Amino acid sequence: MSSYESIIVEKNNRIAVVTLNRPEALNALNAQIMNDIVSAFDDIDRDPEIVVSILTGAGRAFAAGADIKEMKDQSFSDMFLADYFAGWDKFAACRKPVIAAVNGFALGGGCELALMCDMLIASDKAKFGQPEIKLGVTPGMGGSIRLTKAIGKARAMDLVLTGRMIDGAEANRIGMCSRLVEHDKLMDEAMSAAMEIANYSLPSILASKEMVTRSLELSTTEGVKYERRLFMGLFGTLDQKEGMAAFAEKRKASFLDK
Ligand code: CAA
Repeated sequence: MSSYESIIVEKNNRIAVVTLNRPEALNALNAQIMNDIVSAFDDIDRDPEIVVSILTGAGRAFAAGADIKEMKDQSFSDMFLADYFAGWDKFAACRKPVIAAVNGFALGGGCELALMCDMLIASDKAKFGQPEIKLGVTPGMGGSIRLTKAIGKARAMDLVLTGRMIDGAEANRIGMCSRLVEHDKLMDEAMSAAMEIANYSLPSILASKEMVTRSLELSTTEGVKYERRLFMGLFGTLDQKEGMAAFAEKRKASFLDK
């Protein structure tokens, strides 16, 4: 277990579990949490023993948004000069897959943080929303872009313009989540997805994440070309040889991450 002020990081069997740990403030995302997350995921990205992470929240929230009390007196120049929220872009650029296990409120920046993750598993107690309009602002951590890409314009407008909250079942129905599970089974489900991923070869895991992430920004022609290059590039790995030989020999592949 590593020590951070506002998050808990546990590493085991190629999997890191990162827990936002400011439950008294519903894990509101202040500068401390952002800096801890940036440094934890930088460490995870560089740690050869870790392949995949789960991000969740302690208590009744995943995260109830950016810290309103920290932001409320800031001016445009304060935020612009500090490049406020820039740390979240570093988190979003993490190369290894991150599974969001959304245990409760995921509002504003909390919803945006969940959407930065690669898979989103929601508990039936999860509540999603972009309530920034109630504060006289808009989403600011990439929500309007990632949410619109995830659920389409009309649904994104509905959430961003009304600020209403939706439950895990609705979020799942409209395509924000990849899985919806009973609250008590949330961490088991996230862990079982992580264990499945952790069995595979790291080069193909990183390439898969990179490919799907880039696909959101490329044209179909460029995307297919990009995918083809990465696919062919993996034929330079030992794990491609092992994976395909294991299939032909009807045995389980034993990958080396090489
Ligand atoms: N920032 C700072 N503190 C927050 C917070 C936030 N986003 N959300 C909750 N808290 C604090 C509350 O102030 C409260 O602290 P105190 O005990 O010291 O008063 C504590 O967490 C518990 O919250 P509540 O008493 O409000 O709990 P509740 O069950 O009555 O309500 C809630 C829960 C509906 C989630 C409510 O807390 C709420 O509406 N939170 C704010 C949600 C929000 O507006 N998020 C967007 C933030 S702006 C943003 O994120 C910008 C962006 O795009 C990046």
